[in-house]
Amino acid sequence: LRQIKDAEELRHLVRAGKITSEVFVRIAKRIRAGQTEREVAETLDIELRKSGAQKNSFDTIVASGPNSAIPHHETGNRRLKAGEPVVLDFGGVFEGGYCSDVTRTVFVPGKKPKPELLEIYRVVRDANKKAFRALKPGMLWKEYDASARSYIEKKGYGAYFTHGLGHSLGLEAHDPYDYAHDALKAGVVMTNEPGIYIPTVGGVRIEDDLVVTKTGARRLTPAPYLDI
Ligand code: GLY
Ligand code: MN
Repeated sequence: LRQIKDAEELRHLVRAGKITSEVFVRIAKRIRAGQTEREVAETLDIELRKSGAQKNSFDTIVASGPNSAIPHHETGNRRLKAGEPVVLDFGGVFEGGYCSDVTRTVFVPGKKPKPELLEIYRVVRDANKKAFRALKPGMLWKEYDASARSYIEKKGYGAYFTHGLGHSLGLEAHDPYDYAHDALKAGVVMTNEPGIYIPTVGGVRIEDDLVVTKTGARRLTPAPYLDI
């Protein structure tokens, strides 16, 4: 019952993804050097509430500079510096109790990011795109995972993609799912969140929420990517 969403559940999830993407657009414009991770997280959380979220679907992650290389960084008091990556991973619980879960990585304005970080960004963005295009009914989760992982490995960053490509999303940010056995079917909602985390350099993650359709997948999170 939880693995495959019906039309009403999908309506809530579409709305949750759209609103959360709009919140990202508003927040991304306001990122400045000197702000603390916590300040950015608080602004994000307030915008989510103002936009209709009942609460957060998990604690907002704002991971800047070296912290961006920690996938589940606990948001702290570090101040953002110009040119650094900032991973913003957040979501709300919206009408009906349905969750969103979105990650975008941005660069703090005021300085050109290091070329290696731009390269990592492009690899993660292209891996996300490949997974979106590959996702279709009948696929096993491990095949879906491989659609992004094989590309990241080919680019030489395989050792730095240290978590699974995605998880089921619904009434919980990590909804129950039998990943080992059950093929993905129309109505399954999965996140698509490739990441590369290099301790001395920094990290990038890009996360969308996808619903499997009869022929492929639809993206529920229209938040833009960086054009770099
Ligand atoms: N966005 C947090 C997680 O997927 O664990
Ligand atoms: Mn997630």
